[in-house]
Amino acid sequence: MIDLHSHIIYGLDDGPDTLEESLEIIRHLSSFGFTELVPTPHKFHMLFNPSPSQVMEKIKHLKRSIIKRFSFEYSCNIPLIKEMSNTYNIGLTSDGMQVILIEFPVMITRKGDVEKSIFELNSAGFAPLIAHIERYGKNDIFWSELKKKYKVYLQGGMRALAKPFYDSSRKQIIRMIESGLIDNLATDIHRASQLGKIEKAISFIFKEYKESTEKFFADSFI
Ligand SMILES: [Fe+2]
Repeated sequence: MIDLHSHIIYGLDDGPDTLEESLEIIRHLSSFGFTELVPTPHKFHMLFNPSPSQVMEKIKHLKRSIIKRFSFEYSCNIPLIKEMSNTYNIGLTSDGMQVILIEFPVMITRKGDVEKSIFELNSAGFAPLIAHIERYGKNDIFWSELKKKYKVYLQGGMRALAKPFYDSSRKQIIRMIESGLIDNLATDIHRASQLGKIEKAISFIFKEYKESTEKFFADSFI
């Protein structure tokens, strides 16, 4: 089981502050069944912009074999993404496009702006994996149409699955899982205090979608 979106490296963004908390998160995620964690600190965020060398330096201190690679969660600033000559991606599509995890400013992003960004990223050779799609207040039809037109993947945030049954973001992910729109699920964990929700979400996924668990926690969708 691979987690393709997490903030588990201390002192880089709004993730853990200390090495100890990083290690605690890693230990628990491993005990939940994850065999690989891909740290994705925020990049080009208005508050955080760690360099690849800063990430590599911190990973050395963690010295855990469960971290085999890293990438970033890119704020969707296309000129800055294009500027990175060697963009750190989470994989390549069969036709050589770089798959990168991206986020938009929550809720305020208009549908037209999302579509324009995806078009520009595709044109520049990037196939985006959009993080926590349940946060953007866009309906399933919008996401479905976007997938038909562009090379784009959709990631659901697991913590939404630990919310009460009447929560609208939880309902949306469940609907989108069942209609085949979700390519990947990820923890997006920032703090040890969120481990309880991750554990609850994993139990739910194993109970309801056991046959798809492997698919949701892998990079085979690429
Ligand atoms: Fe994130």
